[in-house]
Amino acid sequence: MTKNILITGGAGYIGSHTVLQLLLGGFKAVVIDNLDNSSEIAIKRVTELAGDFGKNLVFHQLDLRNREALEQLFATSNFDAVIHFAGLKAVGESVEKPLLYYNNNIIGTINLLEVMAVHGCKKLVFSSSATVYGWPKEVPCTEDFPLCATNPYGRTKLFIEEICRDIYLSDSEWKVILLRYFNPVGAHPSGYIGEDPRGIPNNLMPFVQQVAVGRRPSLTVYGNDYSTKDGTGVRDYIHVVDLSDGHIAALRKLFESNIGVAQQLIFLFESNIGCEVYNLGTGKGTSVLEMVSAFEKASGKKIPLVMAGRRPGDAEVVYGSTVKAERELNWKAKYGIDEMCRDQWNWASKNPYGYGSPDSTE
Ligand code: UD1
Repeated sequence: MTKNILITGGAGYIGSHTVLQLLLGGFKAVVIDNLDNSSEIAIKRVTELAGDFGKNLVFHQLDLRNREALEQLFATSNFDAVIHFAGLKAVGESVEKPLLYYNNNIIGTINLLEVMAVHGCKKLVFSSSATVYGWPKEVPCTEDFPLCATNPYGRTKLFIEEICRDIYLSDSEWKVILLRYFNPVGAHPSGYIGEDPRGIPNNLMPFVQQVAVGRRPSLTVYGNDYSTKDGTGVRDYIHVVDLSDGHIAALRKLFESNIGVAQQLIFLFESNIGCEVYNLGTGKGTSVLEMVSAFEKASGKKIPLVMAGRRPGDAEVVYGSTVKAERELNWKAKYGIDEMCRDQWNWASKNPYGYGSPDSTE
């Protein structure tokens, strides 16, 4: 039977790519999104890219804090599982407006979990982040590393992870997979969907992309005195399509059955997943300068650089171990930084203003 999946935040960057992979994988997808930092055009394009499978996508503009609307949705649909992306994610903004982040991310999630429990939908994949490793003492980060938050945004991820562990402890019917993303970049190879941040981008690649299309004059490199190969920060960049496929692998794990034999009868029973956590990265570290140079090669554009001091709160080197995801989810990233930059440029050159127009963006 076709599984019906609810995707919160499904119009966003990672959400839209995951919805496409879900549809292509034969799932039905119901997307809810408040469109605060995303566009309904992404949903339209996903529907087109999915071809015949596009008919299996339904979209509702809905904020998770609107409890009544959420109740109504669950009362009228049956969901086999939920993938929960919805949330605010800008580190600097979270420092300035912590209550906004706690309200949006934590209250939204508690509403979702409560409504899921009432309706007996207890399978969840949650978008966590490598930010919960804080400033790791060593690399690669493995899932059992000590956790710490360095800003309110990170704290919301950490709290939600803890909430998920607690709900499983209180009720073993829950099956939860927490996915810790490293640095998602790139776009769908069609160049039809991609990342479209509002305002000035905080993250490296959206900024590089805006320099390449002429929207910003230069990239500021935050720190070239780290003890890394070229002095710049090192991260684990992962192609957004690989990351999306990681969600499909996690869902399949949630739906996994075991074969049992009792009194000469063979029967299937659901595996006891509990609340498990997996890193989604490539396991490789790439510096800022290496990433810029790969992007220059892919785009044929020169990215002017301005060297500056370290960005407060930044870690030196962060990359993850992918061993657990490979072993237990049967998932491994396929793409390297050349493909990430190729697809990022393809998206950027076809959509220099993202889903908007030159006057709708800063
Ligand atoms: C950042 C967040 C992290 C969040 C992640 C989401 C901070 C401190 N951390 O991680 O909590 O989970 O995004 O993807 O914001 N860089 C530049 N110039 C720029 C932008 C970035 O040199 O204009 C450098 C950074 O110093 C860093 C690397 O590029 O070394 C990657 O930065 P970024 O894309 O912001 O990701 P993270 O710092 O890993």
